[in-house]
Amino acid sequence: MKLRATRMKRLSDFVLIMFILLGLVNCKQAQEESVQNFIIIPQPVEITPTAGVFQLNSRTKITCDEELRSKAEQLAGFLKPATGYNLPITGIGKRKNVISLSLDISLNNLGNEGYKLDVRPKRITITASSAVGILYGIQSLRQLFPAEIERKNISKTNDSWSIPCVSITDNPRFIWRGLMLDCSRTFWSKEYIKRTLRLMSLYKLNVLHLHLTDDQGWRIEIEKYPELTQKGARFPAKWNEPKEREGFYTKNDIREIVDYATQHNVAIVPEIEMPGHSMAVLACYPELSCTGGPFEIHPFFKGPSVHKDIFCAGNEKTFEFLENVLTEVVEMFPSEYIHIGGDEAPKKRWEMCKKCQARLIEERLKDEHELQSWFIKRIEKLVSGQGKKLIGWDEILEGGLSSTASVMYWRGWLEDVPERVVSKGNDIVMSPTSHCYFDYKYEAISTMKAYEYEPVSNKLSKEHSNNILGVQANFWSHIDRTEAGVDKQLFPRILSISEVGWSPNNKKDSTYFKEKVIKQLIRLEKLGVNYFHDPGLKNVK
Ligand code: ACM
Ligand code: ZN
Repeated sequence: MKLRATRMKRLSDFVLIMFILLGLVNCKQAQEESVQNFIIIPQPVEITPTAGVFQLNSRTKITCDEELRSKAEQLAGFLKPATGYNLPITGIGKRKNVISLSLDISLNNLGNEGYKLDVRPKRITITASSAVGILYGIQSLRQLFPAEIERKNISKTNDSWSIPCVSITDNPRFIWRGLMLDCSRTFWSKEYIKRTLRLMSLYKLNVLHLHLTDDQGWRIEIEKYPELTQKGARFPAKWNEPKEREGFYTKNDIREIVDYATQHNVAIVPEIEMPGHSMAVLACYPELSCTGGPFEIHPFFKGPSVHKDIFCAGNEKTFEFLENVLTEVVEMFPSEYIHIGGDEAPKKRWEMCKKCQARLIEERLKDEHELQSWFIKRIEKLVSGQGKKLIGWDEILEGGLSSTASVMYWRGWLEDVPERVVSKGNDIVMSPTSHCYFDYKYEAISTMKAYEYEPVSNKLSKEHSNNILGVQANFWSHIDRTEAGVDKQLFPRILSISEVGWSPNNKKDSTYFKEKVIKQLIRLEKLGVNYFHDPGLKNVK
C-alpha cells in the first residue's frame, strides 16, 4: 500500500513537472513580440503586441457582414495562391479559427480609411466604419504574414502560416497619398496600371494621377475627336519607336481601370494638359495654336522638352475643344478632382498672337501671366460646373489663383510656394522635385531622403497646415521607358512616400524604417517587383 502511494506521488510529481515545463514553453511562445519585429509599411498609428500567435490553416473561415463580401473575397484571394487554402466565406457567427470582417459605425472617429485589427490566438477581427477601412485592415494583416504569402503559387518552403498576436488602431495622416504616372512620353499597358494599383493599395496609397496628354502623345479616347487617338496617340514612323510605347486607353479600358481602382481604394485623377505641353493636340488640330502650325509629335529626346507652341488663348475654338474634351473626361472618372496641367507654358506665342493680344485688351489683363490665369479660371468654371474640383501644377498661381483651385507643388526650388498657396486658403498637394521626383536617380533622391520629407513646413500655422492635402510621388517616363525600369524608379522609395503620407510625424524613426524596407524587399521580390538595390539601405545593424 505504501509502495503504491509512493508510486502515485512520483507520478503526480512527474505530471506536475511536465505541466510546469509545458507551461514554460507555452509562456515563451506567448511572450509578446517587440513592436520592432513588425514590419508593416506604412507604420500604423498604434500597434500593441499581445501574447500568442494565430495559426491560419485549411479550416480557417472568413466571416463577414453581407456588405463586406467583396472585401472578404479580396482577402481570400490574397491568401489562396501561396497557401492553397480555399477559405470559405460565411456570415458572422463562428467564433474560433476565423478572420472576421465587420462594420462598426462607432469607429467613424478614425475616418473613412481607419480600421482596427485585432489578432488573437483563436480569432482575427478587422473592424472599421467603412469597407475602405476594412480593406486597409486586410492590407496590414497581409503584411503580418511572412513574405512567402505573396507567392503566386503554393509555397513549398512555408506550410505554417502563423502570425504574431497584435492589436492595431490606425488611420491616415493625409487624405492624398498619390503617385503620378506619365502615360504620354511612354504609354503603359492596362495590365501594368492594374498591377500598380494592387501595389499602391498594399501600401495604402490612394490616388493614381494619370498624366494622359503631353507633347509626346494623347492617351485617352475622346469620341468627339477621333483624330486625337488615331494620330495623336502614335509616334510618326520615322522615329522607329517600339509599338508598345504608343497607344491609348479606350473608354472601356478606362471603365475597367476605374472599377479596379475603386476596389483597391484608389481614385484615378486624370490630367489633361493645357495650355502648354499640348503638341499631341496641335499636331491633330493646328488651328488651335497661335501660328496654325504644322506640327508633329516626336519622342522626348528628339525635340524640345518644352514647346513654344501652346493652345491659343484668344481663339474661342480652343475653349470649345477643351469643353468637349473635359465633358467626356468628367463622365469617365468619378474622382473629385480633374488635373488640368498648367505647367511650363512659354508665353512667346501669346506675345506675338493677334488673337491673344486682343483677349488681353478685352479682358483688361496686365500681361500674359494674367492671360494664363484667366485661361485657367475659365476652365475652372467649366470643371466646377460639372461638379469637379480643379487641380493644376503650381504655375497656376502665376497671374492670380482662383480661390477654389487646388495646387500641385512641384518646383521644389521655389520654397515659398506652399506658404503662398495655403495662406490664401487654397489646398495643396506636395510633390516637390527635391523629394518626390522618382524619374530622378537614387543618387539624388534615395529611399531614406524621400522618407525624411516633411510635407508640413514649421512656418505654417495649424489652420493653414490643414490645407495640405498630402503628398505625391511623380514618375515622368522620358528616361525609363520599360516596365522593369519604372519598377526600379518607384521601388523601394515609394514606400517612403507611403509612410510620409500615412503615418504620424512624431513616430518617424529612420533606423526602424530602414530595417522594415529591407525586410519588405523580400515581399516585393515575391510580388515580382523589379526593385532597385538602393545602396543607402545597407549597413543596418
Ligand atoms: C512638371 O514636372 N513639369 C510638373
Ligand atoms: Zn494666340
